[in-house]
Formats: sequence, structure tokens, C-alpha cells
Amino acid sequence: MASTNVVAVKALLLENVHPEAVSLLERAGLEVDQRKSALDEADLAAALAGVAVLGIRSKTQVRRAVLAGAPDLLGVGAFCIGTDQIDLAAASELGIAVFNAPYSNTRSVVELALAEIIALTRRLTEKDQAMHAGVWDKSALGAHEVRGRTLGIVGYGNIGAQLSVVSEALGMRVVFYDTADKLALGNARRCVSLEELLEISDIVTLHVDGRPSNSSFFGEKEFSRMRPGALFLNLCRGFVIDHEALRRHLLSGQLAGAAVDVFLDEPRSAGEEFASVLRGLPNVILTPHIGGSTEEAQADIGAFVGGKLADFVAEGTTALSVNLPHVALPPAAGTHRLAHLHQNVPGVMAEINSVLASHHVNVEAQLLGTRGDLGYALTDIGIDYPDSVVTRLREMDPTVRLRVLS
Ligand SMILES: NC(=O)c1ccc[n+]([C@@H]2O[C@H](COP(=O)([O-])OP(=O)(O)OC[C@H]3O[C@@H](n4cnc5c(N)ncnc54)[C@H](O)[C@@H]3O)[C@@H](O)[C@H]2O)c1
Repeated sequence: MASTNVVAVKALLLENVHPEAVSLLERAGLEVDQRKSALDEADLAAALAGVAVLGIRSKTQVRRAVLAGAPDLLGVGAFCIGTDQIDLAAASELGIAVFNAPYSNTRSVVELALAEIIALTRRLTEKDQAMHAGVWDKSALGAHEVRGRTLGIVGYGNIGAQLSVVSEALGMRVVFYDTADKLALGNARRCVSLEELLEISDIVTLHVDGRPSNSSFFGEKEFSRMRPGALFLNLCRGFVIDHEALRRHLLSGQLAGAAVDVFLDEPRSAGEEFASVLRGLPNVILTPHIGGSTEEAQADIGAFVGGKLADFVAEGTTALSVNLPHVALPPAAGTHRLAHLHQNVPGVMAEINSVLASHHVNVEAQLLGTRGDLGYALTDIGIDYPDSVVTRLREMDPTVRLRVLS
């Protein structure tokens, strides 16, 4: 009878990953080595010996050579939103699952946008600066309620749609424009074009994604199209707007204020000076890319990615993986699970099941998912089976990786 593979259960967490992830992985039985900083390529390669799970944030580069030299590595958790720092193609080829936290800071961005919409509409930045300079100015001139104002949301994805719902609760009229078909939530109304949105909105807020075609998509023409006295917010990506054009429209008074959280050249460290043509302008809120930076979001990222890694190690489930087919099957009691990652070519399932049938092994549950070049099948079988089953499955030509989980 076959014994299950001894699954390496060591986790290496770098870059001060949130303690929520540490306790979650420890509760799942993993031995966690936690380090504060990122590691360079050579140190990372050495540190990965015997490690099944790697957790990083945005600084650690996980390149092909590092992944190829880490045969025990099963999964990489990016405890952040982006995954550019990981060679995803190499991870897929080697059967290493990658997870991230795409939604954990959505609410944080929405709340910052709301705070800024109210602050700009009331001209709070100017009142605050005047008070700190000893000036008592009680004037209501230029200060408005947000109730009844029209908010134009460009990009109605996770963040845009949630901002839509919360803004309506404040009594705002919401219109949106998205290049994809999106369901309008609540009373929000879809605009047929960006131009239509710009002409009717008191406040325009950008929440588009970072696809290359969005580079500088909002510039002189779009700012000119906005209503006189309108407000502008960008909390998505720095490269989507022309900052010089925004400055001109703020200085001319055509725009009454702006809030910007993201910039083309953001300082890499705390000591580096922040340079921007928007510095020093009145009723302009500048924030250092903190839209998603809250303690709640960090804890949520820790729990979300930590949970995905723990489930992948224990049950082989790949729900919401960045690179592998998504397969989630509750484990059947009293079974062993074969987690078979393979090339997505015809006949693989027939071959797996023929190997099992020829060894008189019954399938209790089975689920297949495919994604591009890869297929991933979870098969629950009884606990009595010969070793040769595992050997035969491993030897199949399309097999990328096979794990046996008990
Ligand atoms: N400031 C921060 O700290 C922070 C934190 C999290 C996310 N973000 C950024 O916020 C943005 C939105 O995030 P999300 O999770 O809502 O993304 P998402 O992918 O869920 O939504 C983006 C939406 O924009 C639409 N879109 C793309 N290009 C468009 C265009 N030119 N015109 C109109 N619609 C367009 C897409 O169809 C999609 O519906 C991303 O760029 C993300 O990087 C910033």
C-alpha cells in the first residue's frame, strides 16, 4: 500500500508579512520562519531549501532561477495586490501556485476617496491651513454639501462599484463610464461615453486598471471637457493622467480642486523627496499612494493570502490562484487526494482514470479545471492503493506535478 508523500511544511515569510498570516499558517500545521526584510536572489535561493510556502510583499523578486532551484516549493503568496515581482510563467511551468489579495484593500480606497470628496467640496484643506496660520475665516463661500451633487466614476470595477453604493447613501447622484459592460448598482446610471460623464459630473474620480492603453488616457482634452468648478480625483494609477494638464486647469480655476494619491515617479524610500508639479496648489490633496494602506487592509491581506496558502497545502484547492486553474473540492472523508497538475491536452483524464481502474482503485470524487496550457484535477480515492499508482501517474507525459494529500 502506498504511503502519502511527506509534504514539506515549512513556510518562509519575508517583508514583515502581517501576524494574521503567521498564526493562520501555524494553526494549519506549518512551521513558519518569519523575516522582516526582503532577500536578494542569492539569499532567497539559499533560504528556500526545504521550504513549501514562500510569502512576500512587493520588494522580493522571485525569478525563474530561484523557482527552478526550489523543488520543495509548492506555493508563493504575494501579500499585496500586484504580482509583477513573481515570474508567473515559470511558476506555472513548475506547478507552483501563486496567490495574491486582489480585494483586500478595496474598501480602504473607497473610504479615502469619500473623505477627499467631502474635504474638497467643503474646501477643508484651505480652512485647515488658514487656522494653523492663525486665520479665522468662517465664510461659506465655495463650500458645498455633497448631497445632490453628481459623482462621475470612471472605471466601475471593484473599487468604482463600491464607491458608487456608498456615495448614493450620502445622497449623491452617481453616473459611471466603463469600457466593459457593467451592471449599474442602486440608482447609478451608465454613461454611453466618457465625454457624457465629464459634461454632467460635479466630481470626476478615476478607478480604471493599469492596462498599457490607459497610459495618459486622461489629459488636456478630458480636463477641458469637465464642468467649470468641478473636482477631480485620481486614486488608481499615476500614469493614467497628464499631471501638467491637471495643474493648468487647477491654476486657471476651471477645476475647483483635486485629490491625487498616485504618481508616475513615486519615491522609493521615505528619505527621497517627493517631486510633483501639483505641490503647493490650493485645494489640492496629495497623499503618498496610501489609498489601500490601512491596518484593516493589511490584516485582511494576511488572512486572505495566508488562508489560500494553507488550503492549497492541506487540500490542494486553487480557488483564486493567480496562475493555476481554479479547482476547489471539499475533501471526502476517509480518502486520499491526488492533486494532479498537467498539460491541458486531450486524454489526460482518461489516462488518470485508466491508471486508477487498472489498479482497482475507486474514485470517490473528482474535479477538473483548466486554464490556458494547464489542467488541474483533484481526485479523492480510498486509502488502500498500491505505490505503483503514484509512480504511473507521475510518469504520464503531460504530468507537471503530482501531490498526494491525506
Ligand atoms: N491608491 C491605491 O493605493 C490603490 C489601491 C488598490 C487599487 N488601486 C488601483 O485602483 C484601480 C482600480 O482597482 P479595481 O480593483 O477596482 O480594478 P478593477 O479591475 O476591478 O476595475 C477596473 C475597471 O476599469 C475599467 N476600465 C479600464 N480601462 C478603462 C477606461 N479607459 N475607461 C473606462 N473604464 C475602464 C475596467 O473595465 C474595470 O471595470 C487599479 O488601477 C488599481 O491598481 C489603487
